[in-house]
Amino acid sequence: MNHFENKVAVVTGGASGIGRALCEELGQREAAMVVVADINAEGAGQVASAINTAGGRARAVHLDVSRAEDVQKLVEDTASEHGRLDFMFNNAGIALCGEVRDMDLEHWQRILDVNLWGVICGTTAAYRVMTQQGFGHIVNTASLGGLIPEPMATAYATTKHAGLGLSTSLRAEAAELGIKVSAVCPGFVQTKALDSATYVGVKREDAISEMSSSMKMMDATDFARVILRGVERNKAIITDTALTRLLWWLYRLNPAVLGPFLQKGVSDMRALRIEP
Ligand code: NAI
Repeated sequence: MNHFENKVAVVTGGASGIGRALCEELGQREAAMVVVADINAEGAGQVASAINTAGGRARAVHLDVSRAEDVQKLVEDTASEHGRLDFMFNNAGIALCGEVRDMDLEHWQRILDVNLWGVICGTTAAYRVMTQQGFGHIVNTASLGGLIPEPMATAYATTKHAGLGLSTSLRAEAAELGIKVSAVCPGFVQTKALDSATYVGVKREDAISEMSSSMKMMDATDFARVILRGVERNKAIITDTALTRLLWWLYRLNPAVLGPFLQKGVSDMRALRIEP
């Protein structure tokens, strides 16, 4: 049985990376409608037309997830047009790398707006529709940086810890109402995230080469399949690689165990810092 056949799904951040791979997989699994929502309208359009050409059903929507009214409208319109909303993937996110001492409040504001408020807006809008219909699954993308500390990306880790807390708490609150909630926590997936990240106090190329040299990445399509398997099984937290699970397990065992690993990451990035 195909869990996603004839289902209606909204995927934010669907133009690229994990979101794009999710949209493509849902299209192949014969979803009734995949709404590819992204701030990058052109990219979303390309993903939706590729899905339609391949025989799936998708449409593209230009959406900034930090705009609460737009998110609410998209969710409500989708549910009323198709008579249901089965899946809400709050996947859109941005990254911000650098030291807190080099950041100003605008940096914090933007990442909170997209990564946290975006997830809050998508979750509350979908939850309202889903509680009325009595079913649905909300899938929020957090990060390994929501499971363990991520120094030198502290603002990012703040948003992802909050997104994870939102998801695990709402999961317990929503269960009796027939709504499922899962969190996705990737650490190492091959996408454009590092290229499109904002770098503060450090040169973009230096930071990218430092971070990518130490990582073995999972392919985005492979991870989308892992996510959909986790959604099918209603897992609370869905992770990507064995390294992500090992780091999470060590941190739960004893947070101090990760101290030297985290400090090494700080020293390596700090060595690249441009003095203001
Ligand atoms: P990506 O950069 O390839 O895709 C992100 C998508 O979100 C892009 O299409 C972008 O246009 C869209 N987006 C950005 N701001 C938006 C906004 N305000 N409104 C609507 N769309 C917006 O990155 P990736 O890796 O696919 O990221 C997906 C999610 O996975 C993000 O939440 C990210 O934080 C999370 N993640 C990814 C990891 C990885 O290893 N790639 C690791 C940890 C978390």
